Amino acid sequence: MAKKTVADIDVNGKTVLMRCDFNVPLDENCNITSDDRIVKALPTIKKILEGGGALILMSHLGRPKGSPDPKMSLAPVAKRLSELLDQEVVFAEDCIGPETKTKAEALKSGDCMLLENLRFHKEETIKDKAAKEDEQLREAKDGFAKQLADLADIYVDDAFGTAHRDNASMYTVPQLMEGKPRVIGYLIEKELKFLGETLKDPERPFVAILGGAKVSDKIGVIENLIGKVDRIIIGGAMAYTFLKGRGKSIGKSLCEDDFIDKGQELLKQAAEADCEVVLPADHDVVRELKPNTAHRTAVGDIDAGYLAVDLGPLAIKTFAEKVADAKTIVWNGPMGVFEMKPFDEGTKAIAMAVAEATKKGARSIIGGGDSASAIKKMGLEDQVSHISTGGGASLEFLEGKKFVCLEILDEK
Ligand code: 3PG
Repeated sequence: MAKKTVADIDVNGKTVLMRCDFNVPLDENCNITSDDRIVKALPTIKKILEGGGALILMSHLGRPKGSPDPKMSLAPVAKRLSELLDQEVVFAEDCIGPETKTKAEALKSGDCMLLENLRFHKEETIKDKAAKEDEQLREAKDGFAKQLADLADIYVDDAFGTAHRDNASMYTVPQLMEGKPRVIGYLIEKELKFLGETLKDPERPFVAILGGAKVSDKIGVIENLIGKVDRIIIGGAMAYTFLKGRGKSIGKSLCEDDFIDKGQELLKQAAEADCEVVLPADHDVVRELKPNTAHRTAVGDIDAGYLAVDLGPLAIKTFAEKVADAKTIVWNGPMGVFEMKPFDEGTKAIAMAVAEATKKGARSIIGGGDSASAIKKMGLEDQVSHISTGGGASLEFLEGKKFVCLEILDEK
């Protein structure tokens, strides 16, 4: 059943606690290098403020070790949000405690406050399984969550990027707010709609493009997609674990030896399900991964002493052809070391092929993370159907996993 959204509730005169994913990239001077996740939360934020709610926003940023770390402060996000909203955003220097409570109580209709990084408290990331097995951890997680829950009358979750976590702010807070409205925001609604509809009722051919370094990260996704998609294109370093299993020489290319057998099992499952798997037939190789180094094409086997860093020209051509007739596309993971030129050619070619197929009517979904930044870097973000704000979350969705923190929210 569909979840209630922020459009289904009246926030006028109420205090709303909203979990966002403001885990934005920062440079060494703590400047935000992409405000995408802030911009994408704006429709829900505006809906609440314009509806007369007093809004308290909370998020994590990075992976601090459970104590304050100024390099991971959300203060730059408060500043950027205030520019985007053209209104003051109060910043609470701790997400819990008496001062924050006082600031929350002083908020009026239409006011907005952002709490400091939730993960400055170790209780935020205590896993629910650990909390169930250890009473002390349970009490710590509940005590932290209660302070957050006590700040507001309504709970809104719009943090799609974190939806696969059972962090206190995502899972324990809404449970403690039982009896009060607990709904999703527009961003989560949109992400679930796009990803859900695509997997449920895809127009065919349905093509998945998977890349990135590790097969081990993507086993669940491949297993779940084998019965659903017509074709899986595999690039990036993860391809070499499959190729080594097929008896190819891969030189010094990255390989997860422990997963070679699993990789071959997946290829067998795919063949039995009539799902075509496309692996690179040639490779751009170097002796050592460093900028401006000499590189050449290796066809088939890779000589000892070389490692693959990108697709070769034949693989680029084949991959692009295999994307061209797609009517539904999901893409997660780069095709090579795309952050180091010129080893971004394969990823760029795939981005262009996806945009081209979309122009011809395909529905294309780009998983967050590296493939999303490649699309954005090439200025193609308006030429694909949907770029997810979730890296890990969109992968887990493609794996068919359930998001427990969303399951507990109110049904329509
Ligand atoms: C992300 O960037 O994928 C989300 O913000 C989740 O971050 P995490 O992997 O540190 O939980």
